[in-house]
Amino acid sequence: MEGNGKKRSSKSASQAQAGLAGFPMQGMREVFGYLRRYRDQVFVLKIDDHLMGRPLFSLLIKDIVLLQKIGIRIILVPGAKHSIDKVLKTYRVNSTMKDDVRITTEEAMPLVKLGASNVTNVLISLLTESGANGVVGNWVRARAMGVLNGLDYQHTGRVEKVDVALINNLLEDGLIPIVPNIGWNLVGKDYNLSSSELAVAIAKALRATKLFFIGVDTGIPVVAECDFADAGEKASGYFSNLDLEEGGILLRDFSQSLKSEHRELVSLAMDACAAGVDRVHFIDGSLDGILLQEIFSSAGHGTMVYANQYDKIRSAKPTDISEILRLMQPYVEDGILIQRSAETLAAELENFVVFKVDATLHGCAALKIYPDKVAELYAVVVDAGFTGQGTGRKIVSYLLDKARKAGVKSVYLLTTQTSDFFMRNGFREAPLTAMPPERQSTYNPDRNSRVLAVTL
Ligand SMILES: CC(C)(COP(=O)(O)OP(=O)(O)OC[C@H]1O[C@@H](n2cnc3c(N)ncnc32)[C@H](O)[C@@H]1OP(=O)(O)O)[C@@H](O)C(=O)NCCC(=O)NCCS
Repeated sequence: MEGNGKKRSSKSASQAQAGLAGFPMQGMREVFGYLRRYRDQVFVLKIDDHLMGRPLFSLLIKDIVLLQKIGIRIILVPGAKHSIDKVLKTYRVNSTMKDDVRITTEEAMPLVKLGASNVTNVLISLLTESGANGVVGNWVRARAMGVLNGLDYQHTGRVEKVDVALINNLLEDGLIPIVPNIGWNLVGKDYNLSSSELAVAIAKALRATKLFFIGVDTGIPVVAECDFADAGEKASGYFSNLDLEEGGILLRDFSQSLKSEHRELVSLAMDACAAGVDRVHFIDGSLDGILLQEIFSSAGHGTMVYANQYDKIRSAKPTDISEILRLMQPYVEDGILIQRSAETLAAELENFVVFKVDATLHGCAALKIYPDKVAELYAVVVDAGFTGQGTGRKIVSYLLDKARKAGVKSVYLLTTQTSDFFMRNGFREAPLTAMPPERQSTYNPDRNSRVLAVTL
């Protein structure tokens, strides 16, 4: 399940290199689930131009075109640093950097534009070769970075505004907008922009579902002292997931342990997520199939930054009891849930979590942890007025995370009519023995519920 917070598994480079060949059935099912979810969603892809000379680069572009053909709205932002450096070197024009930002002189600016245009041309050629139509344009208004601490950054600029309507029109028409790192102000003065900042500004403006930074690095290298880095991450050497809180701690307490480029990327990703982009992914684009794998499977390879998806979920309180009973009642009447009294609920309240938006209860669920590292998931309910918005998935995912943190190895549940929902969320049919013995003895054969389980 994507979005299981820290718990997506992390693949080794060699596994990732194997690409999607021999994709198992479970993987196929995951793909179909994601296909539906991502149709018409906007994905912004910042592509590092270091990748452009790599042997598998054209395959990456083919994969991007594949995504576009299945209905995902793709916007490309090419990084051009490498190409610009090359052009400047060819024309023997010096360029200075301050804190990783290029000071773009009057003399350098035409060459910066040439470097930027070289990379967009490469992308257009490869998109055309793969049967897609890329279009390059001026949809970004820029302003001068100005003079900072006495240093004039000249033609180096910042993104002022993104023309969302124009870009949306292109997406509607089935085109792939390519946004180079050059912007103009209202009177036509040109500025050299940071492609990473540009990608974030576009993702925010277009309310992108995903923003990718595709480079030649695996992700954000792990900081060993971080207590939120789990054993798998420490072994792989990079963070698999960071939520906004962890990203904040990383930047505040471990800033010195991060390279400046990684500091900047974490900060940009957090900015994007805080503004509503669901997920920001950092992946190594030189690995075959890595983009598809990152999108269509719960196994992640690089680093994913995401906003806290569980902020609406909290432990149930005694004052929630009457509302939980109200929520369950229609499903009790339909025979989907068993009847519970206020007293039973009060006695089990510590197992329950609720999903609340403002003062309204949208859903609830419970997790009972048994000895022997087994837990039961039960009473998963979403108010009929709020179904289909991912609430059920989030509650299940939250409780699986909770179980995992408590050292639980297997979670089971009993269901009469909802097995498909749980199977979409990773559960599989299981024998009665998946339940602890004390629970097997209270199994009601008249109800004939199916047992489903997931291994954590
Ligand atoms: C099952 C339930 C929790 C799902 O909640 P939700 O917030 O709508 O779930 P999500 O939005 O995360 O997922 C919705 C997806 O699940 C599917 N789904 C919902 N209920 C389903 C069911 N009973 N069987 C199979 N699939 C179901 C929807 O079709 C939807 O699919 P889509 O994404 O392809 O459109 C909710 O419908 C509910 O409360 N049902 C009644 C109570 C119940 O059955 N609880 C389980 C007790 S064991």
